[in-house]
Amino acid sequence: MLNMAMVVITATLLIFLLCSPSGAILLNKLQLPSPVTGPESLAFDRNNGGPYVSSSDGRIFKYVGPNEGFKEYASTSLNRNKTVCDGLADFSAVQATCGRPLGLGFNHQTGDLYVADAYFGLVKVSPDGGNVTQLVGPAQGNSTRFTNGLDVDPDTGMVYFTEASTNFQLKDFQTLLNSGDNSGSLLKYDPSTNQTTVLLSNLAVPSGVAVSRDGSFVLVGEYLANRIQRVWLKGPRANSSELFMLLLGRPDNIKRNSRGQFWISVNSFIGSPRSPRRSILPAGVRVTENGLILQVVSLASEYGTDAASEVQEYNGTLYSGSLLASYATIFTP
Ligand SMILES: *[C@@H]1O[C@H](CO)[C@@H](O)[C@H](O)[C@H]1NC(C)=O
Ligand SMILES: *[C@@H]1O[C@H](CO)[C@@H](O)[C@H](O)[C@H]1NC(C)=O
Ligand SMILES: *[C@@H]1O[C@H](CO)[C@@H](O)[C@H](O)[C@H]1NC(C)=O
Ligand SMILES: *[C@@H]1O[C@H](CO)[C@@H](O)[C@H](O)[C@H]1NC(C)=O
Ligand SMILES: *[C@@H]1O[C@H](CO)[C@@H](O)[C@H](O)[C@H]1NC(C)=O
Ligand SMILES: *[C@@H]1O[C@H](CO)[C@@H](O)[C@H](O)[C@H]1NC(C)=O
Repeated sequence: MLNMAMVVITATLLIFLLCSPSGAILLNKLQLPSPVTGPESLAFDRNNGGPYVSSSDGRIFKYVGPNEGFKEYASTSLNRNKTVCDGLADFSAVQATCGRPLGLGFNHQTGDLYVADAYFGLVKVSPDGGNVTQLVGPAQGNSTRFTNGLDVDPDTGMVYFTEASTNFQLKDFQTLLNSGDNSGSLLKYDPSTNQTTVLLSNLAVPSGVAVSRDGSFVLVGEYLANRIQRVWLKGPRANSSELFMLLLGRPDNIKRNSRGQFWISVNSFIGSPRSPRRSILPAGVRVTENGLILQVVSLASEYGTDAASEVQEYNGTLYSGSLLASYATIFTP
């Protein structure tokens, strides 16, 4: 009953958004070094530095200011060939050898940056960017084929990440979208033991993940199922999961703000499914810990009809990223 009510509220708000022109005010575009694209996820370090962004050619860049722009910080591959990889902006088999970082998150206690690399799995980057450790992935004999979203619990250092699929890789994304695949899972990595456990499986392309402020639950988005699931970690319902909310669009990354609310990046289709001109409306949706929608912000002025992959609130401002665009944005609702 409650879930049904949430569906109606969600649907009503998104329809309202589609009919109303109110959008976000673009403050700045942070351009990646050409021809690199795809700042799929953003993160800020413990000294308020950044944003750091993942990118199409396997590197992670740090934004250092308006004059210098983005500077190379690290890469997820242990033996990346710069001649072959630098500037790569496609989804080819070559990209698979260079790495493709997606979800990013810092452990602010240690200064380590954790990265969900589509091909190399869960990767840790030391505070100076110099030391890169592949923790859970093909090199460790794990069956990870498409690592996607990530969040770090700021109190415990526990890392939550998603495996979009065990059948398809990022380079097969178009096939994956039409496959009805539900081989994805949500995993937890414990840095004190190096142990990885599966929290939830049979997910339809799990994308973003975010742990609650008190660490009692974790949210995981299912891109192909237009929904967010909640997995309880503590309390009487620990180890069980439930539907958190249904959306009229595909959820990508989820980011917690300082008040414990969540920003979900949601991309909806406009127009008839059979229309060749069917386009995407990128938006950010802010919800409470109970899944109540507080705000829906259109990102049409930021990304046009391209999908946005992340919306993050930081220091009172909003940042967004995209898998395809050549820039990250700063905006206000
Ligand atoms: C946070 O925002 C304030 C006011 O907009 C600004 O002065 C400050 O530089 C910002 N801090 C960071 C770390 O971005
Ligand atoms: C990098 O790739 C180029 C082009 O294939 C090759 O000539 C070069 O030897 C490679 N460098 C290393 C260090 O493997
Ligand atoms: C990086 O790794 C090297 C070699 O393993 C080690 O000597 C160095 O102390 C490490 N640096 C950091 C910052 O962890
Ligand atoms: C990853 O591989 C290691 C070594 O084979 C194994 O101990 C661990 O259980 C695997 N983890 C996952 C999540 O598959
Ligand atoms: C975890 O893995 C790292 C990197 O491979 C290793 O240095 C460390 O000793 C391991 N820790 C434990 C508790 O196994
Ligand atoms: C949840 O699972 C963990 C690990 O299997 C177990 O230690 C814990 O007791 C379980 N909690 C509940 C409430 O079932």
